[in-house]
Amino acid sequence: MNDSVATEKKPSDKPISSPFQRGKNLVAVASGKGGVGKTWFSITLSQALANEGKKVLLFDGDLGLANVDVQLGLMPKRDLNDVIRGRLGLDKIIQPYEDGGFDIIAGRSGQASLSALPSQRLALLRDQLLEVAEKYDVVVIDLGAGIDRTVRMMSAAATRTLLITTDEPTSLTDAYAFIKLGNAAGMSKNVSIVVNMAPSAAEGEKTYKTLLKACENFLRLTPPMAGMIRQDPRVKDTIRHQTPILTRSPNAEAAQDVEKVAAVIIEELMIAKKQAKAQKQA
Ligand SMILES: Nc1ncnc2c1ncn2[C@@H]1O[C@H](COP(=O)(O)OP(=O)(O)O)[C@@H](O)[C@H]1O
Ligand SMILES: [Mg+2]
Repeated sequence: MNDSVATEKKPSDKPISSPFQRGKNLVAVASGKGGVGKTWFSITLSQALANEGKKVLLFDGDLGLANVDVQLGLMPKRDLNDVIRGRLGLDKIIQPYEDGGFDIIAGRSGQASLSALPSQRLALLRDQLLEVAEKYDVVVIDLGAGIDRTVRMMSAAATRTLLITTDEPTSLTDAYAFIKLGNAAGMSKNVSIVVNMAPSAAEGEKTYKTLLKACENFLRLTPPMAGMIRQDPRVKDTIRHQTPILTRSPNAEAAQDVEKVAAVIIEELMIAKKQAKAQKQA
């Protein structure tokens, strides 16, 4: 691996305040357990935000198991590997995804070395992402499962982390562990819950309440609910066709549920933007 390029620049800790405060437009998508729908949700959320007129970048941050490109049937010529090896700047690997109306930074599947990046490299990558983010209204980061160093760093840089869980006991337990460890790492304020694959709206609410109760009782935390997405056979169908659900089945229940989460995010970003502006004027 060529270290020279990456070590030229040190990660900066300087706060930058425009157009939002740095990181104020980053939304991370995380989960305790894998296979709960993070990648599908990240793609759909990106398209829902784009449909609302936002300029959106989807960053495939699941460094070990990248699969945004697989779900969309893309064959990226350039990916994060080129950035990590110091061959290209992050801005050079952005590719437009015209069908969805948003841009993508593709990851690289099956490269265990990428998930084991040294901290400084990771911090540099985060800084590059924060810089690129200034050209967008929203940056959605599809993270790997669990709460390793990469996840902690990216999640901490984001203004909002959407923690995806299903009603499966293992998924709930791992979501609880994520909140607990995230809290210990000082990032609990930004976490809100999205229940995915809910058999019904009422069941989704119940799943959230179960998790909330554990958080309140044992951690004294009350993570809010950002939304609930119903189990929907059209999700599998659209993934099989490598077409986003909002293109192929925009009226699917699951697609409409993600649109509601997008509305919550837009609202929140507007508030963050206003606060940043007020701070700047003060
Ligand atoms: N709302 C949903 N309804 C039905 N199936 C879903 C839903 N969300 C996700 N899935 C299924 O879950 C699988 C895993 O999704 P994926 O996005 O790859 O998860 P992750 O990124 O968390 O590993 C998908 O193949 C899809 O079929
Ligand atoms: Mg994934």
